[in-house]
Amino acid sequence: MVQKTAKFGGTASDVVVAKVGHGLMMMTWKPTPVPDEQCFEAIKAGLDGLDSLPAGTKMLINSAEFYGMSSPTLNLELVAKFFEKHPEYVDKAFLSVKGGLTEKLSPDASPEGLRRSVDNINEKLRGKKRMDLFEPARVDPNYSIEHTMTELSKLISKGKFDHIGLSEVSAQTIARANKVLPVAGVEIEVSPWSYTQETKDVIATCKELGIAVAAYSGFLTEGDFRRKYTRFQADVMKHNFITVNALKAIADKKNITPAQLCIAWVGHLGDHVIPLPGSSRKDRTLGNFAGGEVDLSEEDLDEIAKVLETHPIKGSRIIYLVPLKEAWLSGVRDWTAAQRGAYANDLTRFQLVAVTDNLNKSKGVISLIIRGTDI
Ligand SMILES: NC(=O)c1ccc[n+]([C@@H]2O[C@H](COP(=O)([O-])OP(=O)(O)OC[C@H]3O[C@@H](n4cnc5c(N)ncnc54)[C@H](OP(=O)(O)O)[C@@H]3O)[C@@H](O)[C@H]2O)c1
Repeated sequence: MVQKTAKFGGTASDVVVAKVGHGLMMMTWKPTPVPDEQCFEAIKAGLDGLDSLPAGTKMLINSAEFYGMSSPTLNLELVAKFFEKHPEYVDKAFLSVKGGLTEKLSPDASPEGLRRSVDNINEKLRGKKRMDLFEPARVDPNYSIEHTMTELSKLISKGKFDHIGLSEVSAQTIARANKVLPVAGVEIEVSPWSYTQETKDVIATCKELGIAVAAYSGFLTEGDFRRKYTRFQADVMKHNFITVNALKAIADKKNITPAQLCIAWVGHLGDHVIPLPGSSRKDRTLGNFAGGEVDLSEEDLDEIAKVLETHPIKGSRIIYLVPLKEAWLSGVRDWTAAQRGAYANDLTRFQLVAVTDNLNKSKGVISLIIRGTDI
């Protein structure tokens, strides 16, 4: 039974949500999307869990304008179909949607780009569910965050959505944005695999400023496009499995799954931290919510901290594939310089991780693998 809750922040500080949210990304962002009815059962399982909480408590559900392969807006279309079929759940959900990217998934915080994205999202939702919160998916280095917040607040005044969230941002960016308009929530990756100083700074700044942290966690299954991240490559995995096995041993002692231990651990990072696992299956969704209810003792937390200190995770998380031609046009000429992060123009915020030797057959170009730093 779901009992724990969390509060959103900023302009949404009156919104109380279940402690664990539900990410919808992998329902549609795969070559063959999961059948609608299976997704609906999973979404309903989460929303039905609210019955044990005080009236008015909502469930954070997380979507994006680009969570689809055959069509980028498949996820939004799924959300619209769900609420069209089940309008009784509309008021139980707090819908957060990421957008503000171009067709090629580059950040676009131009006034036209943000308006286009927000209008497209609303069009796909077909009025079946209000977009409660809009988040630019990545910071556009061509515009200041103050500019982005100002443009987004204009769209709020036009009634297009209610609250602003940020995604994959640094603590400094959050503090600057929050001076323009209170930020409701920040979405970042947080898990025992992703707990760097940068992550800790974001969590601390959000606490100080009264902003919720929606913490996605990077679960992976077969066929997930994130398998190409360097942390999942065979040699690095051998090292990283020492941590996995140590966490599994702690989970076994507590009679919970490793996934539940990780969700519980993320939830214990603060009252303002909302773990955001994603699943398209009812059984896993219920299991993930149960993870949020697990109480970890000081001894449990110390034991987990010791594991993470002793065996720090190796390898990178988010990477981007940039066609060589695009990198060349952006000024990358010298791979050694590029490796030192000396990118020109709009690639200044990225750090080269590797140059792939794979020929990208569909495009006939070699790709660079780069990792976002303050994205
Ligand atoms: N802001 C950002 O940049 C960003 C980035 C990534 C994700 N997100 C958001 O955060 C949400 C969560 O992201 P995520 O990376 O944690 O997960 P995710 O992308 O939603 O995918 C989770 C994967 O793990 C599987 N899974 C779920 N629960 C499991 C469990 N208990 N045991 C084993 N496998 C399990 C799911 O498969 P089944 O569906 O078969 O259960 C799914 O394939 C996303 O859905 C998305 O909304 C945001």
